[in-house]
Order: sequence, then structure tokens, then C-alpha cells
Amino acid sequence: MATLDVFADNYIPEVIIDREKERETIKYFLQDVLKGVNKVLCIYGKPGVGKTVVTKHVLNQFDELENACSIYLCASHLTPNLALKEIYEVICGEEKRRPPSPLMVREIGRRLLKKRNYTIAITLDNFDKMNGVESFLWNINNIMETFPRIGLILISTSEAEIRGLVGRRLFSRLRPEYCEFKPYNADRLYEIAEQRIKQAYGRLVISEEALSTLCEFVANECDGNARYLFKLFLNSADIASRNQENKIGLKTIEEVIEEEGEFILKSKLDEIKKSAPRMYEVLRIIAELQNKQEVVYTVIVGG
Ligand SMILES: Nc1ncnc2c1ncn2[C@@H]1O[C@H](COP(=O)(O)OP(=O)(O)O)[C@@H](O)[C@H]1O
Ligand SMILES: [Mg+2]
Repeated sequence: MATLDVFADNYIPEVIIDREKERETIKYFLQDVLKGVNKVLCIYGKPGVGKTVVTKHVLNQFDELENACSIYLCASHLTPNLALKEIYEVICGEEKRRPPSPLMVREIGRRLLKKRNYTIAITLDNFDKMNGVESFLWNINNIMETFPRIGLILISTSEAEIRGLVGRRLFSRLRPEYCEFKPYNADRLYEIAEQRIKQAYGRLVISEEALSTLCEFVANECDGNARYLFKLFLNSADIASRNQENKIGLKTIEEVIEEEGEFILKSKLDEIKKSAPRMYEVLRIIAELQNKQEVVYTVIVGG
């Protein structure tokens, strides 16, 4: 039986494919923090390009150091207050009652100062998804002002996000460094998929040709999104198992790609319909006229 859990987002593979440069950037960043400098790193890139998995991988190594502690927070299901509470609990221990934010900030700073040579790395993933993220960042900034050796890693999809979400005053205090994750090309996607499929099934249950075709499609049409690649692969695996094939072939992949291609096109048209109705109207007329070339001729040339 295959262990499909390995395709889930929270699974961290033992080996990360490529992303050498990005890992080095995060490592150097943490090394500076360990030396006693407070720093902020903004990691950005399109969805599914390994931002979370690579960061977590580096942080796991960081946690193995003496007196080093990483705290990972995912903003999409946290409020500023709950996020602060998670940090509070790690540093100060659990408490039934949650003190108000200013008290938590002060207590975290006080406890940190008591710990010798302690370094913490706080990661706020998908930070643009948190309502009122600025107030959370102010709190972290205030803790940073009492205690050195805090690294703050902010992850999102765009470089501009941090500037847009925080005021100039806070931005000039945070002074973030940036690390971009560019989309994967088809070769990288192939390696990532191959590793994960072998992990799940013990062998490559898809023909090399079929997997290459799928990876080309994802690289060209889906911004090199590895998460999307896994989803399409799992769809194909379902179809293949329904058809009782023991290996996913090119035909199945072509079917999946065609269906997905249509879906992507429809989504793009829906988007145009919403955001640029006039443009959509033009497209509709062009589509109609394709079947009525005589009309085009009579109106434009003959008219
Ligand atoms: N370089 C890589 N090596 C191995 N797996 C990867 C790599 N990059 C991405 N993945 C896998 O692809 C999926 C999406 O990656 P993730 O880090 O969640 O993307 P992001 O955070 O950029 O949206 C995850 O299952 C992850 O394990
Ligand atoms: Mg992520």
C-alpha cells in the first residue's frame, strides 16, 4: 500500500532537491542571528516553489544547535494575539489565562534576557494572510528591542507585500533582507516528483515519458508549482488504478493535461469576465465570428 501522506504539504522529505542557494541564504541569515544580531528575512515566490519546505528543513538543523529554538507559525489560521501567545508559551511556558499583549511582550523579553546565549528564529509563513499583521510585527519589533539574537523570517508570495502591509515607520525598523524562490523548471520538477513517488510507492509508478510530459506542463502552464504537480499526479494515479494499469502511461497523462488545460483556460476567462468585461465582450465576439467568416468579410471588407 502506498503511503500517500508524503504528498501532503506538511511532510518534510529527508532530502531537499536543489535550492542550494536559498538554503545557504537562510543559513547565513541564521548564523548572523546566532552572532547576536537581530534580523528580518523576507522569503517570497509563487505558490508551490518550496518556500515552506526549504525553510523548515533549515530550521530543523538550526533546532539541533544548543540554545537555539525555532518557532514556526502559519498566519492563515492565527490572529496577531494568538500568534503572540504561541511565542509566549514556548518562552514562558503554558498558562491558562492569556495575559494582554503588552504584558506578554514584556514577559517574553524578560524571560529571554534571563536565558544565556539563547537564539530564537520566528517564522511567520503566509504572513500576508494574517489580519492585522502589522500589530503582530510591532510586538516582535518591541521584543527585538529588548533582546538580541532574534531572527524573524516572513514568507509570502510577493516582494511588495511587506511594504504594502506595514507602515513606513515599522518597515524602516525591520529593514528586511530578501530571498526570492524562482519557479522550478521541468527538470527540477521531475526530480522532486520522482523522489516523492518512489517514497510513496517504492518505485516509479509512472513512465518516464509520462512524468516528463506532466512536468513540462506544470513548468509552462502552472508556474512550476510542485504542489500542483503532486495533485495532477495523484489524479492520474486514480485514473490509472481505475483502469487497472500498473504504470501510469502517456495516454492517461495527456487526458489529465487536456482536462486541466481547459480548466485553466476557463478560469482565465472567468477572471477576464470579472475584471475586464469589455475585453471579455471582444473575446466573445471573436469566438462567435470564427464560425461566421462570411459576416466578417462582408462587414469589414465589403461593408
Ligand atoms: N526542493 C524541493 N525538494 C523536495 N520537495 C519539494 C521541494 N520544493 C517543493 N517541494 C514539495 O512541494 C510541495 C510544495 O512546497 P512548499 O514548500 O509547500 O511550497 P510553498 O511554501 O512555496 O507554497 C511540498 O509538498 C514540498 O515538500
Ligand atoms: Mg508555503
